[in-house]
Amino acid sequence: MTGKPLTILGIETSCDETAAAVVRGTVPGPGEILSNIVFSQTEAHAPYGGVVPEIASRAHLEILDGVIERALCDAQLSLKDIDGIAATAGPGLIGGVMVGLTTAKALALATAKPLIAVNHLMGHAMTARLTHGVEFPFLLLLVSGGHCQLLGVGGVDDFRLYGSTIDDAVGEAFDKTAKILGLPYPGGPAVEAAAKTGNAKAYDLPRPLLHKKGSGRADFSFSGLKTAVRQLAQNHVRVEDVSASFQRAVIDILVDRTAGAMAMFRENFPRANTLVVAGGVAANQAIGAGLARLCTQEDFNIRIPPPRLCTDNAAMIAWAGVERLSAGVVSDVLSVSPRARWPLATRPG
Ligand code: KG4
Ligand code: ZN
Repeated sequence: MTGKPLTILGIETSCDETAAAVVRGTVPGPGEILSNIVFSQTEAHAPYGGVVPEIASRAHLEILDGVIERALCDAQLSLKDIDGIAATAGPGLIGGVMVGLTTAKALALATAKPLIAVNHLMGHAMTARLTHGVEFPFLLLLVSGGHCQLLGVGGVDDFRLYGSTIDDAVGEAFDKTAKILGLPYPGGPAVEAAAKTGNAKAYDLPRPLLHKKGSGRADFSFSGLKTAVRQLAQNHVRVEDVSASFQRAVIDILVDRTAGAMAMFRENFPRANTLVVAGGVAANQAIGAGLARLCTQEDFNIRIPPPRLCTDNAAMIAWAGVERLSAGVVSDVLSVSPRARWPLATRPG
């Protein structure tokens, strides 16, 4: 572990956010965010009700250089002051990942600085170290548009999988529910806002895999919930009430599965008791409150990064670069390639 803080430029282009950031710090954090530029392409994709990969990669290509310049300018640094360049190398939409990783490679070659190819999910997973300096090990609930997993995190290379979704990711369930209800894209924030004035007890929606003992795993399923929302929406319903009932069902599922994973985590790490919630869905305040109640009951500490660091950003990628470079891990510029799929778990729970 080096004592000297590392200053890393991070680049994120795996979905519909074009982002660059400069972060400085030493592990385990907290680190200092010197700049954090997120250019959201929401408007370009909104008419289609979801991300269109071709539109996304073209937009990344057009604006990434300017976003990187802004990030350096805001941090009042130039490339020569940077210790390394970190970029998302997957998982994600391959066209976008190629744009970000290729740009990072070019910068690394031109400046002779180390390149760190980062797993996007690792970025989400380590954000609570950037913001709160959370020590290993911790239990991680990773909830985003593409993923829903419970993992025991023993170190940067030690991810034990306790459970994952067998169908849709939780963010996807929010996005689909929004689409069914005629709410704007992206669905998560829209459903959360509508739910605020809705009655969560209005409709009794299914809670798949709830209290399903025996498998010993903390797996999720959201497709039945989505189907139930679709059927419900065929009737004359209040959008706010459906949103609130849907969100309540999601909270119950997440709390139940996290409680199951806590038991598995305690077996692996008897003295640890921190729950980290990460990924775009962690921005949801009602979900955070539900999990906080569980943590009080179970004697766990809960750490959730602020909303703008839960949704996709490059500060988390830069911080993952700090973690990697501190451990002496750098990527080979010529051979590293983008990956559409890249699982985080290194071993079963
Ligand atoms: O982590 P993220 O920005 O991108 C991925 O890596 O997938 O997560 C995006 C997902 C979307 O499905 C979005 O609807 C959801 O996170 N999301 C939310 C909220 N904010 C974003 N879901 C529920 N409530 C929110 N407030
Ligand atoms: Zn993400």
